[in-house]
Amino acid sequence: MSEPIPLLDLKAQYATIRSDIEPLMREIAESQWFIGGPHLEAFEASMAAYCGTAHAVGCASGSDALLLSLMAAGVGQGDEVICPSYTFFATAGAISRLGARPVWVDIDPVTYNCTPDGIAGAASGCASLKAILPVHLFGQAVDMCGMLQVAEDLGVPLIEDAAQAIGSRDSTGAATGSRGWTGCFSFFPSKNLGGFGDGGMITTNDETVASHLRRLRNHGMEPKYFHAEVGMNSRLDAMQAAVLNAKLPYLDGWSEGRSANADDYDAMFIESGAGTTAVSMQDTSLPLLVPARPDAPSRHIFNQYTIRVPASVRDELRAHLNEQKIGHDVYYPVPLHKQECFETLPCEPLPASEQAAAESIALPIYPELTEAQRSRVAETIVNFVRSHAAIGV
Ligand SMILES: Cc1ncc(COP(=O)(O)O)c(C=O)c1O
Repeated sequence: MSEPIPLLDLKAQYATIRSDIEPLMREIAESQWFIGGPHLEAFEASMAAYCGTAHAVGCASGSDALLLSLMAAGVGQGDEVICPSYTFFATAGAISRLGARPVWVDIDPVTYNCTPDGIAGAASGCASLKAILPVHLFGQAVDMCGMLQVAEDLGVPLIEDAAQAIGSRDSTGAATGSRGWTGCFSFFPSKNLGGFGDGGMITTNDETVASHLRRLRNHGMEPKYFHAEVGMNSRLDAMQAAVLNAKLPYLDGWSEGRSANADDYDAMFIESGAGTTAVSMQDTSLPLLVPARPDAPSRHIFNQYTIRVPASVRDELRAHLNEQKIGHDVYYPVPLHKQECFETLPCEPLPASEQAAAESIALPIYPELTEAQRSRVAETIVNFVRSHAAIGV
């Protein structure tokens, strides 16, 4: 049996940056300055520069970045916020925790992202819409020009869930998180820029919004021990900030490595008869779709490389990959409108979300993946899909 191939190998990355990180950890341990301070300030400045925004506000997680943004937008009991159903739970969880209702929008099956038209359609049924919350899923930017227009037409703020999309670019070449009212990032370890634990960041170009967010992340306190509103404790600690700031200069190289791996997978799958998500699986000689790529200056950062296979073989393929010790995962097997906690919410049909949930499977894409590993992943999948398609499964 060949060596296992993990879905993600963070030890391989750490081996390349250990000498950058270890002195910082020692320095913080010696200083005993764990909360706020120069490392946080430095990383906030680097992130603002990296995203091209005027401000960046650190917080405890991507989930909190969403929650704080929604709080700053005044979202509360009885309000509505439009978001996709095909996303990680945190997107809608943040809306719901404030007593507001997520209003689901379907995705475009080509990009896995929600669209401006979809948002406009969902908004037409809303009586108290307070914000729109599109997600740059898997590392690919939504149509930001269209989204900004829809937000303006609806008169609500556009909060970008950029948790999976740090460094990706929209069709104008602008960084995700740089054009919305706020951009929300996660530094969960599996993200392209991952911390040594949880962490998050909110970007914005609005000074008033930035100060409000800084207050909200610190119990709504300003000045010390005075609270005009209720905030929360949501800090990006000094250790996380230092690690992330040391990793940031490597980020584009890592994302390019992921993109080159995606090119390689694409070529192997397409040579075997697969198509891209821009076509239908019925029109390909191998029933397998690879992610359609946006044209430059857009940039997909491939936080996930997700293929699609017929729903009838997806779970059997997973079992086969488990036997072969090839890491993979399904993002996301149950769209949010089907989750028990949301099943009583009103919902229009979301066929593309349900189909993606049934057909998608994410493969190892981390930059340190070797050519031999990529070939084994692709060959194992192609052989499996070909033999099952051949017997008409
Ligand atoms: C789309 C999306 N939004 C929000 C989050 C929440 O981020 P965190 O895990 O840092 O709270 C994630 C994390 O996986 C995510 O993928």
